[in-house]
Amino acid sequence: MSDLSNALRPLNELISLKGKVVVITGAASGIGKGMAFRFAEAGADLHLLDINMEGLEKVRSELSDFNVKVALYGVDLSKKKDIDSFWEELQGDLDILINNAGIYTFKDFLEVDEEFLERAMIINTYSVLWMCQHFIKRRKGKGGVIINVSSIEAILPFAKGLVHYDVSKAGVIALSRALAREYGKEGFRVNVLVPGGIETESVKKLKTETIFKLKMDVIQSGKQFYSRLPIGRMGKPDEVALVALFLASDLSTYVHGALIPVDGGFLST
Ligand code: NAI
Repeated sequence: MSDLSNALRPLNELISLKGKVVVITGAASGIGKGMAFRFAEAGADLHLLDINMEGLEKVRSELSDFNVKVALYGVDLSKKKDIDSFWEELQGDLDILINNAGIYTFKDFLEVDEEFLERAMIINTYSVLWMCQHFIKRRKGKGGVIINVSSIEAILPFAKGLVHYDVSKAGVIALSRALAREYGKEGFRVNVLVPGGIETESVKKLKTETIFKLKMDVIQSGKQFYSRLPIGRMGKPDEVALVALFLASDLSTYVHGALIPVDGGFLST
């Protein structure tokens, strides 16, 4: 029984990912980059995916102090054929899949057209589904850990102009819970990270653009966001990465099908 054997194992062993192999999408920046660092520190070999190859190269050079293997893949997750090719190309075994990549482009609901909606759904939801399908096929009979990244917006829509995003991220939750039910007995552990208010470069850029373009309604909802944020500050990518590490490691062997907010308490108020 894993709970009894875990009780006998020291903490440093439970948190270690030595000998494990992890796939992280969207690893060129923000939260995904933060995960790459913590997972390397925990000893995992990394397969890092992103559309931004230059960003990935930079991450790999910054990871050079860690004694782990780092493989990079320029994959456009909006293209199923890119996803399929990645899995065909991928050599060796793997243990953990983290679907972190996502886009959060703002658009007024009344201006959302088919092309725009499709892009949000394909990158934020469909790609996660295809990645999970490939991972489960590859790990059939062995199991593994899946961590999918949703958003507080999927549970408590708050920002203006994100209806399409909210729908796409709610899909990630439904997908993860369905997979948890379907594959838990086959040794797969599936959980959802629910970040909110994480100050990544993309979020900072968005803030600057909003202020620069004087988008008053967005500025207003940003102010409201802060005023109801119990912890009183934005989060750091590393604060999400640490929770991902917990979910990927043997510290969380009985956490399954769960939504884990990393949001400074936003959903609690
Ligand atoms: P980010 O924009 O810093 O990083 C996302 C990464 O995904 C980028 O490196 C980007 O190049 C990559 N990517 C985008 N489209 C891609 C595609 N078609 N194919 C391959 N890679 C692609 O974003 P951030 O802030 O680190 O967010 C990471 C995840 O967390 C996203 O899924 C986001 O929706 C979610 N999230 C973030 C929050 C925040 O406050 N930063 C809050 C709630 C959820």
